[in-house]
Amino acid sequence: MRGRGRIITGKNQCLDLHSAGPDKNYHRQTVHTYESVRSGRGVDWNLQPKVFKRYPSEFAEISLTGLPSLRAFLHHCCGLTKKKTYPGGSYFLRANPSAGALYPCEVYLQARGISGIVDAIYQYEPFSEKLRLLHPLGPREGLEGYWHRDGKVEGLVLLVTAIYYRSSWKYGHRALRYCLLDSGHLLGGIEAAACCREQNYSFVTRFNRNRMQKDFGFKGRELPMAMGVCGKEKRGQVVCPDIDLPFINGSGSFCRDPVIEEGFAQAAVPANCRKGVGESPYSVQSEILVDAILSRRSIRKFTGQLTLHREYEAVLHTAMTSLAIDCDEPLDIFALVNRVKGMEPGLYKNNRCLRSGNFSNRGGYLCLEQDLGADSAVTFFLVGDSKNYLPLMLKAGLVGQRIYLSSELQRLGCSGIGAFYDREVADFLETDGLVLYALAIGR
Ligand SMILES: Cc1cc2nc3c(=O)[nH]c(=O)nc-3n(C[C@H](O)[C@H](O)[C@H](O)COP(=O)(O)O)c2cc1C
Repeated sequence: MRGRGRIITGKNQCLDLHSAGPDKNYHRQTVHTYESVRSGRGVDWNLQPKVFKRYPSEFAEISLTGLPSLRAFLHHCCGLTKKKTYPGGSYFLRANPSAGALYPCEVYLQARGISGIVDAIYQYEPFSEKLRLLHPLGPREGLEGYWHRDGKVEGLVLLVTAIYYRSSWKYGHRALRYCLLDSGHLLGGIEAAACCREQNYSFVTRFNRNRMQKDFGFKGRELPMAMGVCGKEKRGQVVCPDIDLPFINGSGSFCRDPVIEEGFAQAAVPANCRKGVGESPYSVQSEILVDAILSRRSIRKFTGQLTLHREYEAVLHTAMTSLAIDCDEPLDIFALVNRVKGMEPGLYKNNRCLRSGNFSNRGGYLCLEQDLGADSAVTFFLVGDSKNYLPLMLKAGLVGQRIYLSSELQRLGCSGIGAFYDREVADFLETDGLVLYALAIGR
């Protein structure tokens, strides 16, 4: 992604290297333009944040060795799947992709009625593959209390948060977009892990975030994004857990970003919501889906070979499958078709041709001159309306995860592309909507 260059400022202090534009809408405030990406925002390597949050030893460490199915489930959602070594050290890649491999997301889970583990709220540590016990549940307590409704979940409730400085350290104000998309990818990881086990699942985006911020000690630095419910809903009423967790610094260094905090506060206020009813997007055997989850990687370069029409159709079908979410915002899938056998090259919207022509070079330019956008078989652009921005972006990320995994199932490469010239893409697509995310697939 643009801005990867190792620029050492050596200042070791928080700087606001670019200010937000005058628009009040967060997404419009953080557009990339030809000029803005050349304005030279650097990163301070002295402030590089850490990517693992560790609770201190007062919080009991729970091994998952005796709970292989829970361990595998969490590993498939967001576990470490590859170690990369370079001369100065090493780092890990995960089941979920992440903009710039910065991994802002954390996962907490509530277990209820799962044999071998106390009903409680835990944090998942991907590095050790262990849990930290944060709060044993009282009989009438639960995360369900945050979304104020009757019924309690027998099984798992997973809470996805984002520690925004892990991403804003590098991407500045635009980082909230990546935190939202990364969180959506993680929800897509939960979906895939649930599909492997033929488990019911749904997603909650409307809940009392202010109360959760206080109860969990997130201090506004860690943003509660969404919850994934995997289990059976039973009768009964629960209230928010009676907790007052301490603040645990999950990024090491931290620089406050008021544009992100304000953008998040606005994005999280729900307008009218339509509930989505979901279907399973994957129709392959569990073992095949597990293999795809574990071997998924972002492609770095396409060969330019053709993709088959049925492969493209399979990816699009998975992407467009309906979703069980409490606030389902419509998403348009534009496809810049460059190299699909039996398909006229051109621009398509929700699988309907808008314009024929060879636009592959244009696609590369629009994706901030990244070759991925030009050499792909297809470059997708996900577009939506600005209403209910938080669930909309989460859905874009989740659909992104489906595109990754369905590409993997078709033996195609895929890469998310979060960096693009927003306005020029919108002009090219002839849309008034917000361009949320791009993804390129191919060989
Ligand atoms: C929201 C998002 C935006 C991304 N944007 C880009 C991009 O603009 N260019 C790129 O080459 N890769 C991009 N990626 C891919 C990441 O670089 C990649 O996920 C990360 O390096 C981890 O590698 P892995 O996906 O192989 O596990 C993006 C990924 C995500 C989730």
